[in-house]
Amino acid sequence: MHSITMESNLTKYWEKGLSMSSSQASSVLVIADSNLPEHYTKEVVDICKKESPTYMISFKGGEGIKTLSQVSEVYLHLEKMGADRKSLVVCLGGGTITDMGGFAASTYKRGVSLIHLPTTVLAMVDAAIGGKTGINTEMQVNFGLLKNQIGTFYNPKMVGINHKWLQSLNEEEILSGWGEMVKHALLKGGTHLKDLMKLSPNLKDLSPLLISSARIKEAIVHRDEKEIGERASLNLGHTVGHAIESLARDKGWEMKHGVAVAWGIVFALEASVMKMGFDKTTADELQNWIVSSISKGIEVDGADAVWSKMSHDKKNVKGNVIDVLMLAPGEVIWDFVWEREEFTILWEKFRGRYA
Ligand SMILES: NC(=O)c1ccc[n+]([C@@H]2O[C@H](COP(=O)([O-])OP(=O)(O)OC[C@H]3O[C@@H](n4cnc5c(N)ncnc54)[C@H](O)[C@@H]3O)[C@@H](O)[C@H]2O)c1
Ligand SMILES: [Zn+2]
Repeated sequence: MHSITMESNLTKYWEKGLSMSSSQASSVLVIADSNLPEHYTKEVVDICKKESPTYMISFKGGEGIKTLSQVSEVYLHLEKMGADRKSLVVCLGGGTITDMGGFAASTYKRGVSLIHLPTTVLAMVDAAIGGKTGINTEMQVNFGLLKNQIGTFYNPKMVGINHKWLQSLNEEEILSGWGEMVKHALLKGGTHLKDLMKLSPNLKDLSPLLISSARIKEAIVHRDEKEIGERASLNLGHTVGHAIESLARDKGWEMKHGVAVAWGIVFALEASVMKMGFDKTTADELQNWIVSSISKGIEVDGADAVWSKMSHDKKNVKGNVIDVLMLAPGEVIWDFVWEREEFTILWEKFRGRYA
């Protein structure tokens, strides 16, 4: 019923879609981020209420809500409101709300209808697109926090885009979403990349490119829904990015995911010049653009620390550290395997340049 089709479910006409889906539903549960200004939630609930009995549950958005116990809270709410298989779940929030709410919707009674209304740049261009849901697990013994360890592939009926919701977002969150937009632009190349390079990472500049950025991910996912091949290219900047993010967390400070990814892309460009013959002048231009847009420096650990994090990456196969590199913008190799020595040399060069 919700398998991914070639038709796009991304729309600016979200009010109409929400109203129509609500009228077809036996009841509606809106899962909202409590950090949002109240009138966002009210507007959404009011549209649904006109068509169908509507209920609301809220969570304070953030990585901490991606747990089984919050999912159970959603299930309980659905039980209490008498939800059935024709009920509709509407997720209004950032990627943590769409991941957790999407997981709950995909598993309740083996799946009820789902609509995503993303309210962060990152969720609009990335998390709400492509049908992956996920929660984290905290194992008592040995493993610690494992991100997105449990999840499903489950496509929403609609992803509604409303730029106005982004107005309450702070600069750091916007920059984080921009990091994923940079990734999409490099995967696509051409005029989309040129257009993004002309813009500063602020809402006014980025707004016109949000939908095209989301569509780049959508197109890749359409070609490879279950990540057998090309979908892995969406990990550009993530092997090193995750390592940087995780090392920062170990030191007790937070580095926003998309910002870590942007640094990961800067490194991937360095590596692509050395390993893939990526044009050095183009790489320099791209690196200068990314680094000057982030505007903050980076504290870079040594190669051993980064390698140790990278070798625990979920994407690795048979113990190899896999990465995404480029021949040119728009020409991507998604199964590059790192040799430790080679990585060390390149990392120290990168470190010398940016630390
Ligand atoms: N499923 C996927 O394919 C996919 C892809 C990328 C990321 N993700 C997941 O997405 C999550 C990150 O998403 P995110 O960056 O949106 O994080 P988030 O949901 O934590 O939102 C970031 C912060 O902004 C707040 N917020 C949200 N919208 C707001 C608004 N309009 N105004 C003011 N504050 C607002 C939230 O309460 C939160 O504090 C991660 O858990 C990641 O694993 C999933
Ligand atoms: Zn990411």
